[in-house]
Amino acid sequence: MSDLEFILCLLGLALLTILNLYRRKQNYSLNLPPGNMGWPFLGETIAYLKPYTATTIGKFMEEHISRYGKIYKSHLFGEPTIISADAGLNRFILQNEGKLFECSYPRSIGGILGKWSMLVLVGDMHRDMRTISLNFLSNARLRTHLLKEVEKHTLLVLDSWIENSTICAQDEAKKFTFNLMAEHIMSLEPGKPETEQLKKEYITFMKGVVSAPLNLPGTAYRKALKSRSIILKFIEQKMEERVKKKTEDNDQNELLGWVLKNSNLSKEQILDLVLSLLFAGHETSSVAIALCIYFLQGCPTAVQQLEEEHIEVSKAKRELGETELRWDDYKKMEFTQCVISETLRLGNVVRFLHRKAIKNVRYKGYDIPCGWKVLPVIAAVHLDPALFDQPWHFNPWRWLQNNTRGSQNATTTSNNFMPFGGGPRLCAGTELAKLEMAVFIHYLVLNFRWELADTDEALAFPFVDFPKGLPIRVQRHAL
Ligand code: HEM
Repeated sequence: MSDLEFILCLLGLALLTILNLYRRKQNYSLNLPPGNMGWPFLGETIAYLKPYTATTIGKFMEEHISRYGKIYKSHLFGEPTIISADAGLNRFILQNEGKLFECSYPRSIGGILGKWSMLVLVGDMHRDMRTISLNFLSNARLRTHLLKEVEKHTLLVLDSWIENSTICAQDEAKKFTFNLMAEHIMSLEPGKPETEQLKKEYITFMKGVVSAPLNLPGTAYRKALKSRSIILKFIEQKMEERVKKKTEDNDQNELLGWVLKNSNLSKEQILDLVLSLLFAGHETSSVAIALCIYFLQGCPTAVQQLEEEHIEVSKAKRELGETELRWDDYKKMEFTQCVISETLRLGNVVRFLHRKAIKNVRYKGYDIPCGWKVLPVIAAVHLDPALFDQPWHFNPWRWLQNNTRGSQNATTTSNNFMPFGGGPRLCAGTELAKLEMAVFIHYLVLNFRWELADTDEALAFPFVDFPKGLPIRVQRHAL
């Protein structure tokens, strides 16, 4: 190192130290929430990420809330962070997206989902990608197109279940949601070798998305990066096929053909959009379906009420000589919607969101400094006994409009319910996810009884997973 380089290094270090001291001095004059910043750099990340039962908030949250309250500071994922288990602050954060707060997922997520992924984008580019996704997942498309697709893929999975056999419910739910998304996005047919190959790559890819971002030989993250490039090549090939076929001939019912014809996104942007929609649309709803199967096997009265509701729907259809489900049938599934809400409240598929403050913010007397990470923990609100009666109980009846079981009113319940996030980044697939769950429940309760074949439970890693894959024994019955 030359003398000049040495002096420059010293100057750089001095500048960093001064900046740090300045920041600390600034922070001293702020009224930060109470909390513990933990170890240098690591902070409290390891304790925060320790797996726990998904129907609880975990030891870390429990201890921190009882020591510091529902809003506290910590140091997570290498950054100073405000953690919020406060329903009001969570709503405030999500509604002020782009004004006071901004989506801010760890850099490793961008590395694997791509820099054009919707989870990572902010500002105008996010708005453009969101418009495309919403267009494609609109209520009109759900009615005219997606309902049929959802029904077809549900039956494909359920018809393959063998009487009195043990099946891995989590894998079956994944098969259903993956096949649905792959067909809807790129017209891939279920069971075909190319679809199966893509599914295999996707499993490796997913393991990396949720693993530690260590790009070293043999790590899940490195393998996932390799799968990412294989998946992207596959999508690129599909794009080229459509370009050759000329856009006018392309199937406008699939996202890829539609985007090629109706948007001016670059190739790289389309690739990341397709990859992240496959991810967002298949992982979450499959976990939700597995959770529903799990909660229902522990609540026979809910299964009985579901059976009554769905027998009613199918009886009315038989009388009209219809077989396929229609939108009106879906709208009749009122108790089913309660089961779906309760599954999402208690199971918390997405437990917390990543944001950062883009301005200095003051909330309930606390300062949230510009640049700090902010984690709205939606699971902590859903499991808060001050907001939900006996929150650890699976009680779908709490969602009925004229709820007679428990002292809550339905408005309080829905105001504090945010399984799909909120504000300008509210999940684009909210309605599709609910439709998938309802149609799956319809055919499940009409055709099967099930019980756990082995003990298993949902754990939060923090992504929700059943360690044994939720093995269930199924028996056919025709109602
Ligand atoms: C039960 C199932 C689902 C749950 C619990 C869920 C949850 C969420 C949540 C909490 C967010 C907000 C993320 C944030 O603000 O940082 C989100 C975003 C998103 N979800 Fe879902 N989701 C589900 C199903 C789906 C499905 C089926 C799709 C269909 C493709 C989908 C597509 C998306 C997209 C595109 C975004 C990004 C929206 C944006 O940034 O504007 N999701 N989801």
